[in-house]
Amino acid sequence: MATKVIVPLMAAFVALTMLVAHQACAEKDCYHEKVRVIDDCIDFLRKYGSTLRPSFNCRMAVDVSDLACICRILNDTDEEKISAEKLVLLARSEGQALEAGTKCGSYPIPPLPARPPPRAKSMRA
Ligand SMILES: *[C@@H]1O[C@H](CO)[C@@H](O)[C@H](O)[C@H]1NC(C)=O
Repeated sequence: MATKVIVPLMAAFVALTMLVAHQACAEKDCYHEKVRVIDDCIDFLRKYGSTLRPSFNCRMAVDVSDLACICRILNDTDEEKISAEKLVLLARSEGQALEAGTKCGSYPIPPLPARPPPRAKSMRA
């Protein structure tokens, strides 16, 4: 009788543990990338004061990082230091498409700036 209850309970517990561990792992995936990008790009990302152009090291750090992942794990402490909006600009300037409508930290990612409409076929005859 007791095993009938305990076994499913244990199975549920194991499943839950695996799920939690898996999520913790996923969050850790780009933790070091985040720390590195914030570190190497602080001159560009800093929230207050003038923004310097992203340095070579900064662009390298961005190029080897998954900025969408960094955006997902960007926390309040990070955002006290850096601007999530600038992080989005930086990602896009390095060619990483961040999905509009999702968030980077607390910053809602806007649609990409509209491109000039494709050139209309010449009206001139
Ligand atoms: C936020 O992330 C930073 C690393 O970028 C870490 O040092 C800090 O402890 C984190 N803060 C919170 C509230 O999780």
